[in-house]
Formats: sequence, C-alpha cells, structure tokens
Amino acid sequence: MFYPLIRQALFQLDPERAHELTFQQLRRISGTPFEFLVRQSVPAKTVNCMGITFKNPLGLAAGLDKDGDCIDALGAMGFGFIEVGTVTPRPQPGNDKPRLFRLVEAEGLINRMGFNNKGVDYLVENVKKSHFGGVLGINIGKNKATPVEQGKDDYLTCMDKIYPYAGYIAINISSPNTPGLRTLQFGEALDDLLLAIKNKQAELQKYHHKYVPVAVKIAPDLTDEELAQVADSLVRHNIDGVIATNTTTDRHLVRGLNHCGQTGGLSGRPLQARSTEVIRRLSRELKGKLPIIGVGGIDSLVAAREKMDAGAALIQIYSGFIFHGPRLIKDIITHI
Ligand SMILES: Cc1cc2nc3c(=O)[nH]c(=O)nc-3n(C[C@H](O)[C@H](O)[C@H](O)COP(=O)(O)O)c2cc1C
Repeated sequence: MFYPLIRQALFQLDPERAHELTFQQLRRISGTPFEFLVRQSVPAKTVNCMGITFKNPLGLAAGLDKDGDCIDALGAMGFGFIEVGTVTPRPQPGNDKPRLFRLVEAEGLINRMGFNNKGVDYLVENVKKSHFGGVLGINIGKNKATPVEQGKDDYLTCMDKIYPYAGYIAINISSPNTPGLRTLQFGEALDDLLLAIKNKQAELQKYHHKYVPVAVKIAPDLTDEELAQVADSLVRHNIDGVIATNTTTDRHLVRGLNHCGQTGGLSGRPLQARSTEVIRRLSRELKGKLPIIGVGGIDSLVAAREKMDAGAALIQIYSGFIFHGPRLIKDIITHI
C-alpha cells in the first residue's frame, strides 16, 4: 500500500544508497516482533521440486541479500524460498562505485557489483540465526583473485561450509561481472566443475546424512547450440536443477536510454522475453529430466505465468521487487 511512496523517496537516491538504507531498516526488524511491519499473509501453493517441498513457487533471486542479513524480514513478505549470496570463500569489496544503475523508463537495472560480500563464514553465521520457514538457497561463486582455472576450489570450499545449512546450493557461473567466470559454462571446464561438485555433494551427503540438491545458474546470452551443450552436461552429471537466467550483457532493447552504456549485467523488464525464451528452449532440451527455476524480468502475474508456461517449476524475482515492492509477491502467489 505504501510502496509507491517509499519508492518515490528511494528513487531520489543513488540506487546502492537506497539499497543500503532499506537493508538497514530491514536488518533492524529481521528476527524481531517488528517483522509484522513487513509481514504479508499469502496462500499456500505447495510445489515439490528437486526433492524439496516449497510452500509456494515464488523465490527471491540471488544478489539482493548477498550476506544473508535480512532473511527473516524478507521471508515475512511471503517468499516460498530465498536465495542468499552470491557468497565467496573470502570477503571481497566488489567493483568500484558507482556500480548499480536504474533504467527507470524500461524498469531495468544494470549492475556490475562484482560479488561484493562478507565471505562465506559471515553468511553461515547469519543463516544459523535465521528462523525462515521456507527453503533457503545459498548461491556460491569464486573470489575475483582466484584464477578461473582454480575457480573449482572456491566452489568446493563454499560447499563444505554451507552444506549443513542450505536447502539447495546454487552454483553461479553466469555473472558477467567476475572476469572469466562465464567461461565455466562451456565444454571441458563445465564438465570438470560439475564432476567435482557432484563428488563433493556425495562426500558431504555421506558425512551429514542429508542430500542437498545442487542447481546451476546460467546466462541468457548463450547461443542455442551452447544451451543444448549445457543442458546435455547438466543431465550427464545428474545436476538437480538449473536456474535460468542471470543478467544479460545484451543492450539492444535499451539502446538510447540513460545509463544503457554502463558495463555490467542488465536485468528487469528488458530481460523478460529473452529469459523466457531460454527457459522454453531448455525445457525442450531437458524433457523434464531436471527442473528449471525461471528468473528474469518477472514484474507481474502475467510475466510469472509466462515463465511457468515456458517450463519453469519455480520462479524468482529481483528487479521487479525493486520496481513494484512487496505487493508483487502477494499478487503472484495469490493468483498463480
Ligand atoms: C544488483 C544485482 C545484483 C545481483 N547479484 C547477483 C548475485 O550475486 N548472484 C547471482 O546469481 N545473481 C545476481 N543477480 C541476478 C539476479 O539474481 C537475477 O538472476 C537477474 O537480476 C534477473 O532477474 P530480475 O530481472 O528479476 O532482476 C543480481 C542482480 C542485480 C540486479
């Protein structure tokens, strides 16, 4: 109800500053009785996916709560699942500011945050303290300083630390803001990484007596042939799910708009159609062998339905949440 007013005030500020201020407030109430200030009741719409029961199919996409600071407050808004991260083994500051831009007319964002995060140990402490009743995904990546050839070790280090606390693990190999990261989506590098991740998962399953599914997050900028190869590799390695998509480096839908020339990944409405197309193609390739978590430009119930019709079992939002606020969560969950 109040979000249009809050948004008007926040959009006067630099986008990252607006994010920091909002998070300061959310952090204050997270895990306290004051969570009622953001609490929304939403109907149960149970979905079984990757062997887990989700109380509804709508999740918060990675990157908003990178360090898991506000899990409970965000959970109170009704999300069926929350993906925290991307987190890396060691803390890192990310790229220089400014690194987040609003393309207001297009309801898009461009970011080149560069995995700014306080490191996996800090995140785990936050996760341990949280009481979120939904599914908590933990999204992991590699430190910028780690050469991409050794990137695998960073994913394995994070897996060791998060495994007991994660509902599922998301492997981010598709951020455009860590040099070389996206090369892990191809050929031998991908096979090598997935093999190591599955071995680690088996080892940790034995040790912790629980199976935590692993989903791989891919870019929207893959060609049809590359998508087919990725799908084949995910199936061959028995990966549990795929998250499609991350942000795009393509700018053709925002040409001429303020900030369109900024380096980074574009998200929000300009990504909507491409991400749906990727989901549709993936769905054709995968033939139900593994589930798709659809993300990219969901800004309405209609857009959410399109993702599910294209083959997504679950969906996530980020930019749409910034532009439309918590009401979007309730609208989607109530009517989907
Ligand atoms: C500011 C910002 C930071 C992001 N950080 C991450 C991240 O750390 N890890 C990740 O996997 N995706 C990250 N994303 C991508 C989102 O999770 C999502 O895949 C993408 O924004 C498309 O969804 P949307 O159009 O609903 O925003 C980020 C997106 C934005 C806008």
